[in-house]
Amino acid sequence: MLTNLTQQPPDKILELTRLFREDPREAKIDLGVGVYKNAEGVTPVMRAVKAAERQLVESQDSKSYTSLAGDPAYTSALRRLILADAVDAERVAAAATPGGTGAIRQGMELIQYADRGATVWVSTPTWPNHLTIINYLGVPMREYRYFDSATRAVDFDGMMADLAEVKSGDVVLLHGCCHNPTGANLTLEEWQVVADHLLAKGAVPFIDIAYQGFGDGLEEDAQGVRLLASQMPEMLIAASCSKNFGVYRERTGMLMAIAPEAKSQGDAQKTLAFLNRQNFSFPPDHGARVVQTILDDATLCADWKAELEDVRVGMLALREQLAQELRQRSNSERFDFIATHRGMFSRIGATPEQVLAMREQHGVYMVGDSRMNIAGLNAATVPVLAQAIVDVGV
Ligand code: LMR
Repeated sequence: MLTNLTQQPPDKILELTRLFREDPREAKIDLGVGVYKNAEGVTPVMRAVKAAERQLVESQDSKSYTSLAGDPAYTSALRRLILADAVDAERVAAAATPGGTGAIRQGMELIQYADRGATVWVSTPTWPNHLTIINYLGVPMREYRYFDSATRAVDFDGMMADLAEVKSGDVVLLHGCCHNPTGANLTLEEWQVVADHLLAKGAVPFIDIAYQGFGDGLEEDAQGVRLLASQMPEMLIAASCSKNFGVYRERTGMLMAIAPEAKSQGDAQKTLAFLNRQNFSFPPDHGARVVQTILDDATLCADWKAELEDVRVGMLALREQLAQELRQRSNSERFDFIATHRGMFSRIGATPEQVLAMREQHGVYMVGDSRMNIAGLNAATVPVLAQAIVDVGV
């Protein structure tokens, strides 16, 4: 049996991490995997997370199973963080999942379970794992244009032209904020156009939100999701706490399914629990409990928000500095988009050859499609990157 197996293609993001690790050069810069790093290159445990973990060590008296959909206190707290009061809680089914990827996977399984023929539309480009999960499950897929590689902004006309072909019952996968890999985001007006269009078509939005708080702020980053949630009869949302709580390895995510009315919420809720049971049974609890402890405690929550805001503002400052350095070195404004993009990533529009040249000649590691993780920089490495970008002729 095992001899039937062939080699799997490497995940291009994780492969880059390996290559970086093996590079013996001192002065190398890792702009690969989407993990936050501070100016010292450390991915810290957030203060509120440490405090919540201390509380849990003292107060938790059992590690027995929770429920198949996770602890309702966690799913309610995270639902409020993302949706606020955009939609009646009675309509929202929710289940904890192993990370945001787990939520994407469970969401795709839910789509297949509910309607095997439904087509899922994905943006070009999108996070590579979206595509591999969809292909692995054999879900029918179509792509819509998203990014204009000339302006490095959203190609909204192209997007809407492609989505004109969406059919009733199709699912449209959208990034809630901080689009991965481009960093180019929809405006609130564009979200409204998308909502009107999907409503008219009878299509279902599926939002992946993994970077709330990294773009324009915790509330601002949820505006698009909330707008859709307040208007669409049905919707799926995959959420991750990996980045905004910095609990990457704890695998802390959630899938929400918004049902047309409270009556059908019950069936959706039971189905989410059933699907969890089939795939991994009970979801991990530690990260979820940490997140819930923080969100339900005013002091911890305020401290978490303050630290997250520092992270966000720090990334914006790096964006400004890089755009400024590039303006000087290239004697042009063609890299100003870096300051306009939001979140951890920007796609800078380098060719694969230029990306390789930056790696080989300058020790700068970014994903082959020229996605770079802004949080991999600090004030001292920004000029090095700017010089590398200009040197290879981007
Ligand atoms: C990324 O896009 O780099 C992150 O979401 C991490 C991952 O799992 O790929």
